[in-house]
Amino acid sequence: MNIRAVVRGVGHYLPERVVENSEFEATLETTDEWIRSRTGIERRHFAAEGETTSQLAVKAAQAALTDAGLVADDIDAIVVATSTADFTFPSVATMVQAGLGTTSGFAYDVQAVCAGFIFALTNANGLIVSGQAKRVLVIGAETFSRIMDWEDRGTCVLFGDGAGAVILEAEDGTGTNADRGILASDLHSDGRYRELLYVDGGVSSNGKTGHLRMQGNQVFRHAVTKLAQTAHTALDKAGLTPADVQWIVPHQANLRIIQATAEKMNVPMENVIVTVQDHGNTSAASIPLALSVGKAQGKLKPGELVVVEAIGGGLAWGAIVLRW
Ligand code: UT7
Repeated sequence: MNIRAVVRGVGHYLPERVVENSEFEATLETTDEWIRSRTGIERRHFAAEGETTSQLAVKAAQAALTDAGLVADDIDAIVVATSTADFTFPSVATMVQAGLGTTSGFAYDVQAVCAGFIFALTNANGLIVSGQAKRVLVIGAETFSRIMDWEDRGTCVLFGDGAGAVILEAEDGTGTNADRGILASDLHSDGRYRELLYVDGGVSSNGKTGHLRMQGNQVFRHAVTKLAQTAHTALDKAGLTPADVQWIVPHQANLRIIQATAEKMNVPMENVIVTVQDHGNTSAASIPLALSVGKAQGKLKPGELVVVEAIGGGLAWGAIVLRW
């Protein structure tokens, strides 16, 4: 008998304010046409003044609890993936715990930038298979609008705010890849590439919040090779191949990266969940947002094989194979 971490519920929350590409035309030398054709992004949501990452996360968590038919006290652990915490500390996860009105279990954050949800989900899987927790709430939540340089057209049109949440629950499995739940995970990082994508501020460097800086075309180059590689490795670890995959749910940074990865895996685009057009790049929130939107569209059915994959600042990247 093997313990498996199975998805019991999903939920998401997007801030009310929707910003269309055309809004940037007033202040930047850019066009809706450029943004759409180079990235696939059409619009994104921005948090209201005073609306924080933990507030978005609480709303996504409440939606996931409702979807799972659970209450906050049923949760043993809360893991939040974010790079845009409300405060330097405490963690967003402890604020979510308080926001949900529970004192049961424990809560902490994981930071792996855009790959954060892959690392958090892997971490939560570890809590479940080692018997430390039976139900883990895993959240990706971000307010990247707070770290944009509004004069840098190469970055500020790309990102958005939002939160997505997944509840993992321990279930007995057979130990084969026919089991529901997380079947394999593949994680990587290479800190030599830290200058390709970083924020130029922080507690121990200059005491500022800083702004996101990115060499987009370099990150793009790494993404198109590393994402397909890690997805293949994760499938291999699970004893499966791309032909077994029903859904790829990629990090939503750029439609061209999503298409190139699907092509390399020989998975048709109708089997890829795409939300980048409506959300932009929401960093660690993008995959749980896409899972929640995809499920609401009737796309993820029990038993279907799903691959999630992401890359971001660090560089840090990885993929998870799970049976829905
Ligand atoms: O989530 C974390 C991981 N991040 C990513 O995966 C992002 C990966 N990178 C990308 O998505 C793409 O590299 C971008 C969308 C950021 C840029 O697309 P690109 O095709 O790589 O363009 P580029 O950076 O090579 O720039 C091409 C041109 C440049 O002009 P010149 O130097 O050729 O005259 C840019 O200045 O496009 C220009 N440009 C823009 N033009 C109009 C850059 N941003 C804009 C803009 N509007 N917003």
